[in-house]
Amino acid sequence: MLRRLHHEQPDSFAFTPANQAWAEAQLTKYPEGRQASAVIPLLWRAQEQEGWLSKPAIETIADMLGMAYIRVLEVATFYFMFQLKPVGTLAHVQICGTTSCMICGAEDLIKVCQDKIADKAHALSADGKFSWEEVECLGACTNAPMVQIGKDFYEDLTPEKLTEILEALAKGDVPVPGPQNGRYGCEPLGGLTALTEVDSGHTQYNGSVQRAVDLGDTVKRIDGTEVPLTTPWNAAGTGDADAAVLEKPAAKPAAAKAEAPKPAPKAETPKAAPKPAAKAKAEDAAQEGTRPTGLEGARDGAGDDLKMIKGVGPALEKLLNELGFYHFDQVAAWTADEVAWVDQNLKGFKGRVSRDGWVDQARVLAEGGQTEFAQRVKKGDVY
Ligand code: FES
Repeated sequence: MLRRLHHEQPDSFAFTPANQAWAEAQLTKYPEGRQASAVIPLLWRAQEQEGWLSKPAIETIADMLGMAYIRVLEVATFYFMFQLKPVGTLAHVQICGTTSCMICGAEDLIKVCQDKIADKAHALSADGKFSWEEVECLGACTNAPMVQIGKDFYEDLTPEKLTEILEALAKGDVPVPGPQNGRYGCEPLGGLTALTEVDSGHTQYNGSVQRAVDLGDTVKRIDGTEVPLTTPWNAAGTGDADAAVLEKPAAKPAAAKAEAPKPAPKAETPKAAPKPAAKAKAEDAAQEGTRPTGLEGARDGAGDDLKMIKGVGPALEKLLNELGFYHFDQVAAWTADEVAWVDQNLKGFKGRVSRDGWVDQARVLAEGGQTEFAQRVKKGDVY
């Protein structure tokens, strides 16, 4: 199936304050430079908040993670769990159409959705409150046919039962999820054949359904206030959102750094002085190597196209500009010590300067020459 961005997009996207705190806390799960690992959780939270993923949401998350927009777009378009079009404001119904469910009546459930919601999958109902789609096996085959509505499963369905559920949702009720035919779990349809004795310790209780009822978030848009933010992966995991966000992964122990043999103390290096172009957010960046001198802005208001350097995409060019680098000759002049600093401070792109030989490429470009890669960029062969 071709999955592309919706033709109508909102102007902007922002996480709610609580979701923003949650998202920033996720970044602290990963080692420095590996924040891109949080891409799926962040996309998912954006979808939980809005119901679907818009272009501004994808780009906002790419910026947060220091990733190129195309990389995040690749993830969003690859996984079918991400909705790229607006869904019903009340509920999005996902009907399992795989073998067990199809044999047990999924087609009849689809007809209900076509009648009650919209003729075509992914279309909104006339009032905009519902949408539906057919999905692959949701792993509840023993309770086929079934649908997922919002976060929860409704199982052992008939067309009549699904109709009742949709009508209840339209009235503002949230029917109890789980099996709808009297089963409490996935025990045999004909009743238990084992562990039937009252004193066997066996309890007829569905903990998942009870949890869903307790949380009450089956079709709720998540704004981040539902569950206290905790960061148990940090040493001082806490329920306090602000503290959790401010916690960073433990810095390298100062003592260990001090013991490491160094050819010359960094303090004696003139280039270690604060740079005027430094951005506030770079202040807590990694301290290996020496920070090259940056500029307040591009000379004559126009920087070079740093994307002509192999390995530099739009996100990295933006980051380099933020660090004060706009011109090929600046990159060409980096010493090995300065390359080490930049390599450590490229967030999700750590090590790219050395890996792709930026300094050598920049030297050629600064002198007016051409690299093979730059020629391909000029011809439009590189996107
Ligand atoms: S076939 Fe429908 S849940 Fe597995």
